[in-house]
Amino acid sequence: MANLCQMIARKALESLTILTDMVLPSETNPLNNLFGGELLARMDRAAAISARRHSRRIVVTASVNHVAFNRAIPLGSVVTVEAKVSRAFKSSMEVYIDVWVEDRESGIKTKANEAIYTFVAVDETGQPIRVPELTPETEVEIKRFEGALRRKQLSLVLAGKMKADDATELKALFTDK
Ligand SMILES: CC(C)(COP(=O)(O)OP(=O)(O)OC[C@H]1O[C@@H](n2cnc3c(N)ncnc32)[C@H](O)[C@@H]1OP(=O)(O)O)[C@@H](O)C(=O)NCCC(=O)NCCS
Repeated sequence: MANLCQMIARKALESLTILTDMVLPSETNPLNNLFGGELLARMDRAAAISARRHSRRIVVTASVNHVAFNRAIPLGSVVTVEAKVSRAFKSSMEVYIDVWVEDRESGIKTKANEAIYTFVAVDETGQPIRVPELTPETEVEIKRFEGALRRKQLSLVLAGKMKADDATELKALFTDK
């Protein structure tokens, strides 16, 4: 019965994870901006919680598919990392991460960075295990869901785990009119 409950499709929103924290001096580079590795760690943590909320399993980071450091984040900034599962496959889940910086006076949040990570649910021995399907609801969730298979194939091709010829969804990008 527990296994059956774990396989019921879950909404993307159920995996939403929000981490808010400040940038401290020990987390900055020589320009007094947030160190890239520190941001990667914060994103990994939020994304892991998100994948765990979706799968209710032990999860491991399988790959970092995309990271864009579009804006530097100065010392003292309040940074919000928002992670949500965008699609679930058999044992793997794509997690989208949006990073926001909050203006002290207005309180307005501006998008600073984004990233896409892949997590795999595993059992106690580290073997991949099935996860529930994901149901996207909003326009953004649907768009991210639709692009996820293409990104999974690209990640597998780059990792040498899939032949480019087998990446049908990815190839369609270049052949479809
Ligand atoms: C991630 C891990 C469990 C995958 O194991 P594996 O033997 O490659 O297992 P599989 O080939 O069955 O792949 C499992 C799933 O991961 C996906 N996957 C594996 N490598 C991937 C990659 N580079 N990009 C995207 N997806 C990947 C597969 O497509 C498959 O997805 P699916 O089941 O949803 O179709 C294994 O490589 C591992 O334990 N890695 C270490 C994880 C870790 O310690 N992370 C922290 C880093 S310090």
